Amino acid sequence: MDAKTNIALELIDLEPELEDFRQAVVEGLSTSPQKTLPCKFFYDAAGSALFDQICELDEYYPTRTEIGILRECVDELATLIGDNRLLVEYGSGSSVKIRILLDQLPLAAYMPIDISREHLQQSAERIANDYPKLAVLPVCADYSQLTDLPIYAANPELRKVGFFPGSSIGNFTRDEARHFLQNVARQLQPGDGFIVGVDLKKDPQILHAAYNDAKGITAAFNLNLLSRINHELGAKLDPDAFNHEASYNHEHGRVEMHLVSKTEQQIKLGNDQFNLASEESIHTENSHKYDVEEFQQLARAAGFNPAKVWTDENHWFSIHYLER
Ligand code: AVJ
Repeated sequence: MDAKTNIALELIDLEPELEDFRQAVVEGLSTSPQKTLPCKFFYDAAGSALFDQICELDEYYPTRTEIGILRECVDELATLIGDNRLLVEYGSGSSVKIRILLDQLPLAAYMPIDISREHLQQSAERIANDYPKLAVLPVCADYSQLTDLPIYAANPELRKVGFFPGSSIGNFTRDEARHFLQNVARQLQPGDGFIVGVDLKKDPQILHAAYNDAKGITAAFNLNLLSRINHELGAKLDPDAFNHEASYNHEHGRVEMHLVSKTEQQIKLGNDQFNLASEESIHTENSHKYDVEEFQQLARAAGFNPAKVWTDENHWFSIHYLER
């Protein structure tokens, strides 16, 4: 067998337990008046694959726009970052964007962190195969709960750079985003960098199309959460009894995704039962949109110096280099 296809990486496993999922679902469905489910649970194997399909959609501009900006700014980024860093990616998914950096940057090591274990394992092994000199250190974890980086990465001598692309920071409310940034700042040393992709405010029609694609992939991604609840928690939900809904909330500057019950129905989970009225929604995701200056302020409030920002020509997306 070709040795290059035979790299079995050892993964640090801090994956949330099934019990965490059950508790989050029970808690979210008990919340009144608005039921909620946390969006991090979108990413089981099926959900991660659907998300990869979303990234290829014509309507979903963030992925290709961010990749375009990254290609433009990668040389400058490489200079800002410096050599021999540990790069920590928060929510690495398929590890596509990181390749643009890896091709330009002599890194000491790459630590992809992702909640979706199989997806992480496969992506990390592909990176290890394609970059044989790079130490790849995958960590399966919910990055929003990770207060300290695991073992080797905790070494204060090791200079680090964080990478948080895709505007995943938009899943947090503005307060939560500030807390997350403060938390990341604690994992870095003064002078270390944090690269963050941030989706910008724009014509709500463009946003609407991006979260309501014609092929219905985003709807399938949203509805997959119900299938996951069935498979993992033994519920008997009918995804056909729900509609996908995504709309821009002007007051909060965010796209909200909801699952809207078509009829009055009950959700049974073990001994718990939840009633849904006809037209009642479960709020499944927030995707906050920022102005460049607004995000820079938030970064400052969390202890970062917003050293540099790049955007595309339409001003749809931004990549920030924040200095701890
Ligand atoms: C991965 C959180 C950035 O909010 O745009 C895509 C997820 N949801 N379509 C986003 C998502 C619906 C995506 N993030």
